[in-house]
Amino acid sequence: MKLNIFANPNLLHEAAAQTIVRLLRQKPDAVLGLATGGTPVGIYEALTAAVRRREVSFARAASFNLDEYVGLPPDHPASYRYYMDQHLFRHIDIPPERTHIPDGCAADLERECERYDRLLQAAGRIDLMLLGLGHNGHIGFNEPGRALHSKTHVAILHPQTREANARFFRTPEEVPTRAITMGLGSIFSARTILLVVKGNDKADIVHRALTGPITTECPASLLQLHPRLVVMLDEGAAARIKCQTTQNAFHEPVDSTNGLW
Ligand code: GLP
Repeated sequence: MKLNIFANPNLLHEAAAQTIVRLLRQKPDAVLGLATGGTPVGIYEALTAAVRRREVSFARAASFNLDEYVGLPPDHPASYRYYMDQHLFRHIDIPPERTHIPDGCAADLERECERYDRLLQAAGRIDLMLLGLGHNGHIGFNEPGRALHSKTHVAILHPQTREANARFFRTPEEVPTRAITMGLGSIFSARTILLVVKGNDKADIVHRALTGPITTECPASLLQLHPRLVVMLDEGAAARIKCQTTQNAFHEPVDSTNGLW
């Protein structure tokens, strides 16, 4: 694990964006796994700025988003397709047909999950999977429980997840109860996983995920097993980790992403 702690969110956004920029420069046809939520917004802004400065091009890249709410059409302001278009895709030069997000309005959700897995397989390995972290340890919408899924599937959202995401909807009741999400197998098949977490409210779950036991009750704890995990935290999210690093709990307490690609 490579762990980076940043003094403020802007530095973190810039570092995460530069990680993606470096990858695309070395591998212009890279396959990216992308996340939504509040955390990546600043990263997408930094990527947009890099494209405007002509530092990088997404013209040959492909993207696969982690998840989508069931029942929200692409033009619904809280759908993840809408989010990605607004925050990233319409500002960069990625061909729309190479941006993939599950269709949460598909008539047959099981078939949609299978279709998404076929697309993932056809694309080859994801080069870099950008991940956020839910307060309950979820990644994508892989929620804590007695078992986890390897493949794309329909997930029942945890009440805590619906509550946390209610801020993106007009009323809490509007938050869908289900979502299509990439499974742990697809996430783990990525060559590199970039986990980005901000805010003191995530300090406990970051600590649990990175230093606690590996358990399906905290899906992000499985990330400890990934051979190329890069973690970027702001000071708030790292509040409980820092004490650990001084006690040498990590293989590589603090490192940079230089030389990753
Ligand atoms: C959602 C997404 C996750 C994301 C999580 C954290 O539930 N499905 O992929 O990581 O929220 O979001 P935020 O960054 O807003 O805290």
